[in-house]
Amino acid sequence: VGDLTEGDLKGKKVFVRADFNVPLDDSQNITDDTRIRAAVPTVKHLISKGAKVILSSHLGRPKGVTPKFSLAPIVPRLSELLGIQVVKADDCIGPEVEKLVAGLPEGSVLLLENVRFYKEEEKNDPEFAKKLASLADLYVNDAFGTAHRAHASTEGVTKFLKPSVAGFLLQKELDYLVGAVSSPKRPFAAIVGGSKVSSKIGVIESLLEKCDILLLGGGMIFTFYKAQGLSVGSSLVEEDKLGLATSLLEKAKAKGVSLLLPTDVVIADKFAPDANSQVVPASAIPDGWMGLDIGPESVKTFNNALENTQTVIWNGPMGVFEFDKFAVGTEQKGMTTIIGGGDSVAAVEKVGVADVMSHISTGGGASLELLEGKELPGVLALDEATPVPVRLET
Ligand code: 3PG
Repeated sequence: VGDLTEGDLKGKKVFVRADFNVPLDDSQNITDDTRIRAAVPTVKHLISKGAKVILSSHLGRPKGVTPKFSLAPIVPRLSELLGIQVVKADDCIGPEVEKLVAGLPEGSVLLLENVRFYKEEEKNDPEFAKKLASLADLYVNDAFGTAHRAHASTEGVTKFLKPSVAGFLLQKELDYLVGAVSSPKRPFAAIVGGSKVSSKIGVIESLLEKCDILLLGGGMIFTFYKAQGLSVGSSLVEEDKLGLATSLLEKAKAKGVSLLLPTDVVIADKFAPDANSQVVPASAIPDGWMGLDIGPESVKTFNNALENTQTVIWNGPMGVFEFDKFAVGTEQKGMTTIIGGGDSVAAVEKVGVADVMSHISTGGGASLELLEGKELPGVLALDEATPVPVRLET
């Protein structure tokens, strides 16, 4: 199967799996529309080629039909971004949906209801996948954020609907995230933050095989400090990961990777925005105080270490970025950077440096798994999927 050409698309019903799993407030207002905006290029392209677009997504983790997880709040913003009125179905399969699909004019968009209203979605049930597939003539996966799930609308459907190709967003994510790690321009630096070593073991181990410099920040550093015999006060420590922290430090040494831990930290006397805080050397955290961010000297050292690097991948926040006064550790202006992982995306947005990054991933778990070197079922299922699947033609 080659790339999709214009002839393949005109008048064709295209099932597009997107990831519209966006945050909503209590009044069902979208608080971050990044994922909707990210899906627009593919849908606009299909519209311009005269396709009939059937959009599918999940939202949240509903158990059965749950109104607060309806995709209805997506419609106004999506319509605005596309410049056409999107029609919404009340279901994602069944006779009513089939009727709506049959009446779709060329260049129009139908948004199906939350595909997770059916438990068969997450079970990757073949009968359910077949029903989704029966709605369309071809399949486009643009849901990078959900590509690590082998669900009916991301994986199963491809068995019944060919061609199955990657949308522009999925492709772009793979180009950046796979490209950067498999053939990085060197020196290649990785910044890994986050509160737990346990959730970052895979990504640290995988990056240690490839990067030249590894900077560690976030709450996990206290487990590393403790493993080195430093006192950490009441900072967060994973006691059962001390041995692992030691072996990661040893592995970095053996590989010749320059692994830097922060040399100073911001500490607080309680975990609250009004806490008393001070900066101390990493080796001098007093009892009763907890580390919440990397210190100014470390920010300088980290920036210096990054100065001549060509590729920087950043996964996970450096500090407790929810508290303004501890946000400094996440602010690293002026770098060419690939940001992977939902929490680091929130961090760069919060400190206003999002626009200087070269690529900000729309995937949390998906980008983490990709950086860990895992294969994503939603990508593998596409035609000629390795390493980069068949794509939509621009
Ligand atoms: C995400 O937000 O990471 C994706 O939309 C996947 O959602 P899930 O973790 O509920 O599968």
